[in-house]
Amino acid sequence: MQAMVKIERHGDLAVIEVDNPPVNALSNALRQDLLAAVKAVIADGHLRGAVLACAGRSFIAGADIREFDQPPGAVITLDICAAIEGASKPFVAALHGTALGGGFELALACHARIMAPDGRVGLPESRIGMMPGAGGTQRLPRLVGAMAALEMVSSGRHVAAAEALKLGVLDEIATDLRKAALVRAGALADAGHWPVTSARDVAPVDRAAFDAALGVIRKRARGAIAPVAAGEAIGWALDLPFAEGVARERARAVELRGSPQCRALRHIFHADRRAARLPASSAQAPGVWPIKQVGVIGGGTMGSGITIALLEAGYKVTMVETDLNRAAAAEARIRAVHARHIGTGRLAPTEVEERLRRLTYSYRMERLADADLVIEAIIEEMPAKQAVFRALSPIVRRDCILASNTSRLDINQLADQVDAPERVLGLHFFSPAHVMRLLEIVRADRTSAEVLSTALSVAARLRKQPIIAGVCDGFIGNRILGRWWAQCDFMLEDGAFPEAIDQALEAYGFAMGPYAVADLAGLDIAWAGRKANAATRNPNARDVKIVDWLCEQGRFGQKTGKGWYDHTGGKRAVDPLVHGLVERASAERGTVRRQIAPEETVARVLAAMVNEGCKLLAEGIAVRPSDIDVALVHGYGYPAWRGGPMHEADGIGLDKILATVKIMQQDGPDFLPAALLEDLVATGRSLASLNT
Ligand code: COA
Repeated sequence: MQAMVKIERHGDLAVIEVDNPPVNALSNALRQDLLAAVKAVIADGHLRGAVLACAGRSFIAGADIREFDQPPGAVITLDICAAIEGASKPFVAALHGTALGGGFELALACHARIMAPDGRVGLPESRIGMMPGAGGTQRLPRLVGAMAALEMVSSGRHVAAAEALKLGVLDEIATDLRKAALVRAGALADAGHWPVTSARDVAPVDRAAFDAALGVIRKRARGAIAPVAAGEAIGWALDLPFAEGVARERARAVELRGSPQCRALRHIFHADRRAARLPASSAQAPGVWPIKQVGVIGGGTMGSGITIALLEAGYKVTMVETDLNRAAAAEARIRAVHARHIGTGRLAPTEVEERLRRLTYSYRMERLADADLVIEAIIEEMPAKQAVFRALSPIVRRDCILASNTSRLDINQLADQVDAPERVLGLHFFSPAHVMRLLEIVRADRTSAEVLSTALSVAARLRKQPIIAGVCDGFIGNRILGRWWAQCDFMLEDGAFPEAIDQALEAYGFAMGPYAVADLAGLDIAWAGRKANAATRNPNARDVKIVDWLCEQGRFGQKTGKGWYDHTGGKRAVDPLVHGLVERASAERGTVRRQIAPEETVARVLAAMVNEGCKLLAEGIAVRPSDIDVALVHGYGYPAWRGGPMHEADGIGLDKILATVKIMQQDGPDFLPAALLEDLVATGRSLASLNT
């Protein structure tokens, strides 16, 4: 095995180079080698200084996440930081790629930091339920101030080189990184003294403002422990001497590392990456088709959002609309979003101009003759979509991928309309499409492995989180959503009120409860869907009519001022009229209303999700349980720190989930226990065991 750390000599200076692909993660073995190398350089009387650098695509991107379930090794990063900072000669960090977590903490312990122009630094531990444990929360505020450090550790944000320089993290940005670092190490050695971060004072801060900012972080965390813990540790840097602050930081970091939240977030970290890979059964490493020119058909909310995302990713886009007014409305939408980005400083006017230059509008599908990919985003009606696919087929090249943004229709029926149906698939974006991270890639019966693989590469370029789904009504996300929202409606009839259900689920960690979401999205959409499906609805299925009654009164949600709530005062207020309708629904069903505890709300919602998830797995619609977790976390506001419903269910016990499902089966055929769930319980297996 090749050494992970080597020492190169450059006259009387050394370069300690770490080489542990792919991202130089700090494994136990690497830490031992690195400490040994640092000690060797310090002990070598011929060496006056050293550069800490990395081979490969990145500087050290943090601790090795795969070793988190093992006990910490003999050497911890804190020891290496102490050895570097207390060395009798200067150490300069030469940073490229992503210097994250423990990697950034090592850099903070060095006596100077130089970075390549495209480098990024950050302490992202809180995103995986951890916090820095090698002095990061104590050294960073000494360099950038407590307020900036608080923002960085709680958000886990990666900070680009230019901003890092401005904040005071870096000493220099250099294109010829190694050379600049060696020059700096030599200069510090010549001077005979060098800055020691831990010896600096934290700049005075308005304590009330700091505490208020921490309060906001606590509120936004919605139950997540790590961002708050990391923020509190920045406070210790204000209150305690360095050594005490570091000791407290270390103790808290060890606690978090073993916590269920850290396990859940690490599960999501791995699940995200697993979901972006083709299932093992697919052909080996299928090719990826080059995609440069994209057509978007339909410039409504979805089409416009998709276009904005495509422009951001660098694609050339042709948007096809049917008439001048619609094209003008789409253009106004797209311009408004870009104007907001200029307003917030996220984009410079020149960047917006460059993006908009890559966009053309047309009324003629013939303009898509050169497209590599066309995404249809018109009204959610099968005949209209089929007509678009039929019209496109003779216009586009045979290797142009044809995608529909449908959220529930049968992609196979669209593939039937075109030549070469193997290039047809679903690309289900979530609204707003330029903001939401989830992208459901829907594989139709004939979709080829190359086309799927190309779609995954497009998702990566769009910086979306993909999951692959099979064809069914609602695919993965919306089918699960349908089941748990139905359970919420049943709970209304059983005795709950909308605000109690929203509160229970928001306390559980959901970004928003279902009735608040419905008001935001508009009730008319659900109403139209209910009317369209009325004829095919199973007569044995339990049906709650409250949403029909609300819509009949013109209460379509926030856009009409009223829906499940009264929004007329600018806040969501409980409306006695809605309570009246809920009670009427109970009375019509002949139900004696009873108290529904928050625990029951959560248990029924979770059981509905897991049961439906098992059905999706058995039907081959979802590839792995962890893909379902990815969908719920990134597309539906499920708290990431709980790891998604399938992960959560393993923790609770599948037997308990099944017991709840068995009570719910009285709600009709949609809630019959999934055979897979029963089988897992009978054989004592977990859902995690199915994650391939
Ligand atoms: N430990 C172990 N493996 C890691 C890792 C870590 N800290 N960070 C990344 N990897 C692995 C990934 O699992 C992936 O492996 P795979 O190819 O087998 O799936 C590979 O490195 C590449 O990572 P990926 O995320 O796919 O590449 P990217 O270029 O999009 O992003 C990073 C690179 C480093 C920005 C990103 O991986 C990341 O944010 N990592 C976590 C950093 C972190 O939280 N550090 C603090 C840990 S306490």
